[in-house]
Amino acid sequence: MNRDIQEILISEKRIEEMVTALAEQINEDFKYKEIILVGLLKGSVVFMSDILRKINMPCSIDFMIASSYGSGTMSSGVVKISKDLSVDIENKNVIIIEDIVDSGNTLSSIMELLKNRNPASLKLCSLLSKPSRRVKEVKIDYLGTEIPDEFVVGYGLDYDERYRNLPYIGVLKPEIYL
Ligand code: IMP
Ligand code: MG
Repeated sequence: MNRDIQEILISEKRIEEMVTALAEQINEDFKYKEIILVGLLKGSVVFMSDILRKINMPCSIDFMIASSYGSGTMSSGVVKISKDLSVDIENKNVIIIEDIVDSGNTLSSIMELLKNRNPASLKLCSLLSKPSRRVKEVKIDYLGTEIPDEFVVGYGLDYDERYRNLPYIGVLKPEIYL
């Protein structure tokens, strides 16, 4: 599997530091409040499980499945929700947990959808962002780091459902998907 990786972009150690810093900001901002972390499946599961254990206030979790991708590496722009939340978020403090914001299509429609359910607050926490690919503007309240326009895998991120189990974030060799 590692043979398909061109370069390690973010090491395990750096990921850990990023997740710790993000959790500290959230802990600070939501002191004495209760929050719901909403993970977007499947890419956010690894990030979710790590950040969750660094949150130190009452906290519940839920998941959604949304996709703007076809089978390739390009966003289709059409966002499909195939699993919605199982809890009511009205008057709740919601933080969406996402692996990466690319075109912004997925997140802008999810934010819009959830905003209409009248949460007390709605924030976005994303581990990665590829600003050069943005089609729709999305405000990322808590961001791990920006990355260049390269297709990355690992730490939950996949190509064709593979590589999610890599403990680091690496650039996939283009010959794998070209
Ligand atoms: P967006 O709607 O274009 O912002 O797409 C966001 C989703 O596309 C993310 O949640 C990922 O699942 C997927 N994605 C975007 N870029 C990458 C990447 O470099 N590697 C793996 N998945 C990606
Ligand atoms: Mg995703």
